[in-house]
Amino acid sequence: MKIGILGSGLMGGKLGTIFARAGHEVVFSYSRSDAKLKKLAREAKGKSRAGTPREAAQDADGLLLAVHWSRVNHVLKQAGDLSGKVIITCSLPMNLDDTELVISGTSSGAEALAKKLPAARIVSAFNTVPSEVLFNVFAARRKRTRPSLIYCGDDSKAKKIAARLIHDVGFDPVDSGPLRIARYTEPFALLVAQLAYEGKGGPEIAYRVERFR
Ligand SMILES: NC(=O)c1ccc[n+]([C@@H]2O[C@H](COP(=O)([O-])OP(=O)(O)OC[C@H]3O[C@@H](n4cnc5c(N)ncnc54)[C@H](OP(=O)(O)O)[C@@H]3O)[C@@H](O)[C@H]2O)c1
Repeated sequence: MKIGILGSGLMGGKLGTIFARAGHEVVFSYSRSDAKLKKLAREAKGKSRAGTPREAAQDADGLLLAVHWSRVNHVLKQAGDLSGKVIITCSLPMNLDDTELVISGTSSGAEALAKKLPAARIVSAFNTVPSEVLFNVFAARRKRTRPSLIYCGDDSKAKKIAARLIHDVGFDPVDSGPLRIARYTEPFALLVAQLAYEGKGGPEIAYRVERFR
């Protein structure tokens, strides 16, 4: 697939690199440094390159939105018309000092994004793991037991693309339902972050969802 990365920082840089190593064509975009985007593309190898958000969105099968909440409008404006596009968002609706969610309870960042872009196909995924765990999960992808990763959305085609990417990174994709479920997964993402950064063992934390019958 052709995957555009909107925001090439901790999440976008690592996920884009993994998508490229898994065989996808990746365009890294949206950084204050063009040299950084070029370096990411060079080191990811495969069919990856640096580009503008508009180039990342052009003909993309999927876009990863991985910017701070305060940058969402800016990057979307640069990306241009995203009608019909599959957008996988890991961006949490955090305040400027990253201490709390600015949308929660009766809505979520993912739903707010869907309202902003009514013609796009939004999936919420990847925000429930710290970026530090991603390369280890990818390296261990052939092991029998994979960590889970929950995702939600209202568009089945978009969810299939998200599930494929989640699987390619090395997780077991767990469909947690429609996009409004992001009201629960976004606070869960903060819990994971708190466990990762304030708990024992540091940020190398992933989780596994199991059903007991
Ligand atoms: N990091 C995690 O473990 C984690 C986990 C779960 C969810 N999330 C969510 O994922 C999203 C991305 O987080 P992150 O940690 O990847 O953030 P990050 O490392 O700060 O990356 C954000 C990207 O946006 C770019 N950017 C910021 N301001 C810009 C500007 N004025 N012009 C152009 N580019 C600009 C940054 O550019 P530069 O390259 O120049 O810095 C960077 O590439 C956030 O919404 C966060 O809540 C993160």
